[in-house]
Amino acid sequence: MDSRPSFPLGGYPRASDPGNRLAVHAGWATTSGMSTTPRGAQRVLTDRKLTAAQKYRRMVVGEVGAAAFLWYELCTSLLSSWPGAVGYWLRARFYPTLFRRCGRRVIFGRNLTIRHPHRISLGHRVVLNDGVLLDAKGTTGDGILIGDDVFIGWCSVVTTTDGTLELGPGCNIGAWCRIGTYGHTRIGAKALLAAYVYIVGADHEATRTDIPIVDQPSVSRGGVEIGEGTWIGTKATVLDGTRVGAHAIIGAHALVTEPIPDYAVAVGIPAKVIKFRRPASAPAPEAPPRSSGASANPLE
Ligand SMILES: CC(C)(COP(=O)(O)OP(=O)(O)OC[C@H]1O[C@@H](n2cnc3c(N)ncnc32)[C@H](O)[C@@H]1OP(=O)(O)O)[C@@H](O)C(=O)NCCC(=O)NCCS
Repeated sequence: MDSRPSFPLGGYPRASDPGNRLAVHAGWATTSGMSTTPRGAQRVLTDRKLTAAQKYRRMVVGEVGAAAFLWYELCTSLLSSWPGAVGYWLRARFYPTLFRRCGRRVIFGRNLTIRHPHRISLGHRVVLNDGVLLDAKGTTGDGILIGDDVFIGWCSVVTTTDGTLELGPGCNIGAWCRIGTYGHTRIGAKALLAAYVYIVGADHEATRTDIPIVDQPSVSRGGVEIGEGTWIGTKATVLDGTRVGAHAIIGAHALVTEPIPDYAVAVGIPAKVIKFRRPASAPAPEAPPRSSGASANPLE
């Protein structure tokens, strides 16, 4: 059986698609029928009608059968923190059975948090370093699709709720990153995310002032797309609904609020293009003047 996940090259909703602006996240309160209940995980975990077992299922394992539930409990509680080479060996032996698909020679670090693994696919030779959290909760979307040779660094969080999150083959996620989405977020092949990068996959609706923002629904602008071969500098933040082009560079501490073209180098808050890298086979595009008040994005 070919256990490799497939990576569609496009065709999923983008922020610019008609009707895709501020899609209210399915599953929680809607704008018209807004309640004053807390949101997301808080909503589930503080729901007085749910039992502890129901909450655990909803937040951690999902709607799986009793056998799968017990197997998950056994594997994670016995093997998660097992130290040394024996721990790596045992996890490599048994953890693949938890996932929707798992390729060969995957390395499972210590103290991973794996939630809803039946909605997660791992390619060959994926590395999940110690402390990584993968969470694919929800019932819609394709969950998490991780390509071959992907490396996810120490304590990074990769999460989707009712969405699809793709990490393309060979991409490298540094330590302490957070990638989340309620929509469809894609990190392209061989993209490099430095430590502490935040890919923001949703927003909070804030249109009403009569109730707190925490009680208003989550909204999605469709997710984020990071092009292949792109380098995102440390502590950069990429907001929901934006696209960073292929082979671009985003400077350390930048805030990406608008599309960044292929091969561009963008820095600052908000991120503005300061120059272009020269593709091997093409002359460098002219960099826009930095001092003009207009947007520096040449695609606009
Ligand atoms: C974006 C970056 C690649 C640009 O490097 P560079 O091409 O050598 O650019 P320069 O150093 O010549 O800087 C060009 C201009 O951009 C400014 N600049 C560079 N990086 C910046 C940043 N992160 N934020 C704001 N301004 C930045 C410089 O001050 C300079 O401004 P000036 O022309 O007014 O003097 C680099 O500065 C950077 O941020 N790299 C990320 C490093 C990182 O996160 N590493 C983690 C390890 S994976």
